[in-house]
Amino acid sequence: MKRVAILGSTGSIGRNTLDVIRRNPGEFRVLAITANSDIDTLGLQAEIFKPAFIGVADAVCAEKLRSKRSAQCRKLFTGLDGLCRLAEQKEIDLLVLAISGAAALRPLLAAIEAAKDIALANKEALVMAGQVVMGLAARKKIRIIPIDSEQSAIWQCLEKEERCGLKYIYLTASGGPFWNKPAKFIKKCAPEAVLRHPRWNMGEKITVDSATMMNKGLELLEAMHLFGVGADQVKIIIHPEAVIHSMVEFRDGVVMAQMSATDMRIPIQYALSYPRRLSNTLPKLDFYKLHELRFVKPDLKKFPCLALAYRAAKALGTLPAVLNAANEVSVSEFLRRRICFGAIPRVIEIVMDRHCNRKNPELAHILEADQWARAEAEKYIAKKGIGVNK
Ligand SMILES: NC(=O)c1ccc[n+]([C@@H]2O[C@H](COP(=O)([O-])OP(=O)(O)OC[C@H]3O[C@@H](n4cnc5c(N)ncnc54)[C@H](OP(=O)(O)O)[C@@H]3O)[C@@H](O)[C@H]2O)c1
Repeated sequence: MKRVAILGSTGSIGRNTLDVIRRNPGEFRVLAITANSDIDTLGLQAEIFKPAFIGVADAVCAEKLRSKRSAQCRKLFTGLDGLCRLAEQKEIDLLVLAISGAAALRPLLAAIEAAKDIALANKEALVMAGQVVMGLAARKKIRIIPIDSEQSAIWQCLEKEERCGLKYIYLTASGGPFWNKPAKFIKKCAPEAVLRHPRWNMGEKITVDSATMMNKGLELLEAMHLFGVGADQVKIIIHPEAVIHSMVEFRDGVVMAQMSATDMRIPIQYALSYPRRLSNTLPKLDFYKLHELRFVKPDLKKFPCLALAYRAAKALGTLPAVLNAANEVSVSEFLRRRICFGAIPRVIEIVMDRHCNRKNPELAHILEADQWARAEAEKYIAKKGIGVNK
């Protein structure tokens, strides 16, 4: 039985991972689960899956969990340092990284340092520090198996192919709720409209990123690091049906696509069971019901976050970390209704313009740029106040 640790088990990917494990008795054992602060969900998960290790990033919540009977385990790890120690435990065969945002970077590096194979859902860590992460993974000879449906699709298309034959990656985007809406309408949308994704049911941050299309921008950077390609080799296409999860084109003109139903449990299951394919009762494609597959070139003026991500992807250095940090701050402020939807790219652009990019950065430079960009974005939003909404 594969012993699996799930970092971020209380989130959308984490809960889907536990569902996949529950559906495959005898295949996997849940060795560890973690949360930031949602100890109610974590306690319920602990009762069902009886993990040996539990991790809680928030120290106050960790103390509250300690007193719950449901959360009995061999060891409770607390704080971000605690999650790093949990990620190093020797019994772990596969570590699912489903923490959202930049907070995932340190536990990811700790797990790779301890030579764990990774099933990677989090994208922000690779966006910020792709070269550092992939360099360490290569040195430690571990596998990074993507969970993100697009990266999983590309990875499956490339699995048995020579990398030198790869010409282009086509990253497909469902386009979120606004791809065919006028720019004027989009700018003033409230969180409720933004969080209504037409195809995927995901966590709040990634759902907002889908609506701004920053999600695709982050995936562009993720794909560059995972597959060793340049920004000019990655083409983004809006494909509203979200049946094709991404494609690759080889130098002989052959294009390979990966298709499946829009259900995150499908790429999660493959990442868990790799190299085997397990049968399941998850939704399947019915080609007789697929009337059309549309492909549309994204409008970079309507979705400026995508243009900003291309800018960061071409420059590399510390700029992607700045893009990511300014985006995290802006999305969080938007969800708190302190800035409007249209202000998200403006805040990111201002912070990127103010940044002095450092090429070939070490981890310390990346973390410094991340902190600087967060402070800069917060400062700008606070200074402009309601003006950000104009
Ligand atoms: N959802 C999807 O379908 C999907 C698809 C592809 C890729 N991804 C990527 O996968 C990652 C997770 O996405 P999600 O939608 O599952 O997010 P989510 O629902 O917001 O869940 C995030 C998880 O991370 C934990 N967490 C948040 N901040 C933390 C911190 N500072 N320290 C430790 N743990 C923390 C949360 O704990 P609490 O519950 O206690 O807050 C929760 O368990 C993201 O990077 C996203 O881009 C998601």
